[in-house]
Amino acid sequence: AIDLTGRHFLKELDFSAEEFRRLIDLAAELKAAKRAGTEVARLRGRNIALIFEKTSTRTRCAFEVAAADQGASTTYLDPAGSQMGHKESVKDTVRVLGRMFDGIEFRGSRQADVEELAAHAGVPVFNGLTDDWHPTQMLADVLTMIEHGRGRPPAEIAFAYLGDARNNMGNSYLVTGALLGMDVRIVAPRQLWPAEPVVAQARALADGSGARITLTEDVAEGVRGADFVTTDVWVSMGEPKEVWDERIALLGPYAVTMDVLRATGKPAVKFLHCLPAFHDLGTAVGREIHARHGLTSLEVTDEVFESAHSVVFDEAENRMHTIKAVLVATLAGDGAAPDGTA
Ligand code: CP
Ligand code: NVA
Repeated sequence: AIDLTGRHFLKELDFSAEEFRRLIDLAAELKAAKRAGTEVARLRGRNIALIFEKTSTRTRCAFEVAAADQGASTTYLDPAGSQMGHKESVKDTVRVLGRMFDGIEFRGSRQADVEELAAHAGVPVFNGLTDDWHPTQMLADVLTMIEHGRGRPPAEIAFAYLGDARNNMGNSYLVTGALLGMDVRIVAPRQLWPAEPVVAQARALADGSGARITLTEDVAEGVRGADFVTTDVWVSMGEPKEVWDERIALLGPYAVTMDVLRATGKPAVKFLHCLPAFHDLGTAVGREIHARHGLTSLEVTDEVFESAHSVVFDEAENRMHTIKAVLVATLAGDGAAPDGTA
C-alpha cells in the first residue's frame, strides 16, 4: 500500500510515478464521493495555513473548499497580511506556524523559500506555485486528461504545451509527462524552452518511464497527433511589465487557434489552460495590451477557449479534488477510503 502520510509536496519529483498516480486516483475517488454525497470528513480538527506571496483565485479557493469539505479549517495569509519576508524570516515564521498548524501551503516566487519552509515546519508543506514549479496544477491537469482521454492511462496520452515554456508550467509539464511516461511536446521558440537542467532531468526520467519527449519550434510538427493542446500566460506573475512586448513578438506564432487544433489531426482534441487566460482581453491588463498591440487575444483565441474542445473549467474544478487528495493523503494518516469504508 502507498502511504503518503507526513510527506511534503514541493515539486512533482517528490513523488514516484506510483505515488503521483495514487494521488490522482484518490482525487477521482474523492470527486465521486462528493458527487454521490458519501464523502467522509477525515480532517476534522486539523488546521491548515495558506501563505500567498502572490495572488490566486483557484489555488486558494481549492485549498479552502477542500479543507472545509474534509472538516479542516484554514487560515489565509496574504502578501501584506503577515510579517514573513518583511519583518520576519521565512525560517522564523515557519517555526511558529509549524507549532500551530498541521499543514502549510505556500505560494511565492522562490522555490528555495518553499524548500526552507519544509525544512523547518515539522509538518507537511505544499507548493501552491513558485517561479519554478506548479505541482498541484499537474495533478489536476493529469486527472483532466485521464477523464477526457477515453479511459487511457497517461502512458497512452500525447499532449503539446505551446507558449512560454521557460516558466513554472513549462517545467512542470515537461517533468510530469516524463515521470508518467507520456508523449510530451514542448512547442516554443528555443529561448523559451525549459532550462537545460530541467530538460536533462526529464530525459533521465523518460529513460525509465518510456516517455517520449519532444522540444520543437515547429508548431505543426509539435502538435501532430496530440490528444491535448495546452498553454499558459505569456508573462507570469512577478515578471516585469516590460517583458510583454518581447513575448508578444516571440510567441505570436504559438497562440492556440482553431488551425492549431486542426493540425493535431485529432478531431476530439481537447484544450487545457491552468487559467487565468488572455482569450478576449476583456480584463484591465488585457485592455492595456489591446490598446498597445491591437490584439484581441494572446495565448489562446476566444474561439478555442469557448469551443467544445475546451475543458478548462473541468480542469479548474479538478484543482479542488486533487488538492483535497493531497491534504487527505498527507494529513489524514489512516489509510481509509474516501467513503470511510476501508
Ligand atoms: N491556475 C492557478 O493556479 O490559478 P490561481 O493563480 O488563480 O490560483
Ligand atoms: N505561469 C503562470 C501560472 C499561473 C497559474 C504564473 O506563474 O503566473
